[in-house]
Amino acid sequence: MASDTMNAPRGAGTAFAAIARWAPILVFDSGVGGLTVLEEVRKALPDAPIIYAADTAGLPYGTKTEAQIAARVAGLLGRMTERFRPRLVCIACNTASTIALGMVREVLEVPIVGTVPAIKPAAAMTRTGVIGLLGTEATVRQAYVDRLEHEFAADKRLLRHGAPGLVEAAEAKLRGETVDPAIIEHAANALRSQPGGELIDTVVLACTHFPLVEEELARAFGPDVRFVHGAQGIARQVARLTAGQEYARQAPDRALFTGAGDVPDAYRTKLAQYGLLEVQRF
Ligand code: DGL
Repeated sequence: MASDTMNAPRGAGTAFAAIARWAPILVFDSGVGGLTVLEEVRKALPDAPIIYAADTAGLPYGTKTEAQIAARVAGLLGRMTERFRPRLVCIACNTASTIALGMVREVLEVPIVGTVPAIKPAAAMTRTGVIGLLGTEATVRQAYVDRLEHEFAADKRLLRHGAPGLVEAAEAKLRGETVDPAIIEHAANALRSQPGGELIDTVVLACTHFPLVEEELARAFGPDVRFVHGAQGIARQVARLTAGQEYARQAPDRALFTGAGDVPDAYRTKLAQYGLLEVQRF
């Protein structure tokens, strides 16, 4: 797997000497999808303190307007960086990154790593020249995706599908619920039924939730289709931008969920498996 990341190191190094060893890396998503990125960041930087922030009060982003998403992401990240003073913010969400990354970089004085659809590696992998892209409805309509297509896959065919059902399926799976196979089949058929879709051999998982249901998708697409997403590349970029920094934990890593009410126990159990031992509302 490989990645495309929008990772200009704005702010990187400027406050290097002043970075506290316990300053966390803040990993942000609308829900639990960013855990697929967190998992790779942990492998790359096992000692790094991490705060995982899920905007569950705003989930799903994929069915919202650009203005709604940009306002939520910029507002929340502004408040979170004020409160937690992270050394780096990783926006582990394709929808938020393709819409709001530029804006957030304008206002926050902290290095920011974004997540964008891994079209470049998919273009290198495909043998048939036909690539499928599964993302949220908001992501698949972004000009940012058009630009990636023109830059890296101009000589390929890129078939896109916005699949909100897969976000729900991934959230349900993480809560320990069974994934409805009809949702998975629907997403696969929506790509396969487009002109040229029968030739798809590579599918970009352009939503951080989707690797959570990669097994189910693999069954639906069959053995000749490979999947690509950005998590490993993002982790490498996080490691590059924090190279040479020191880490120490003052407290267990935690997850923040926006909204009110108790965080379901099923989430807590899973979050603990990702090393997030405390769960709080934000
Ligand atoms: N995980 C997010 C992404 O990568 C979006 C899911 C949603 O909130 O719709 O796009």
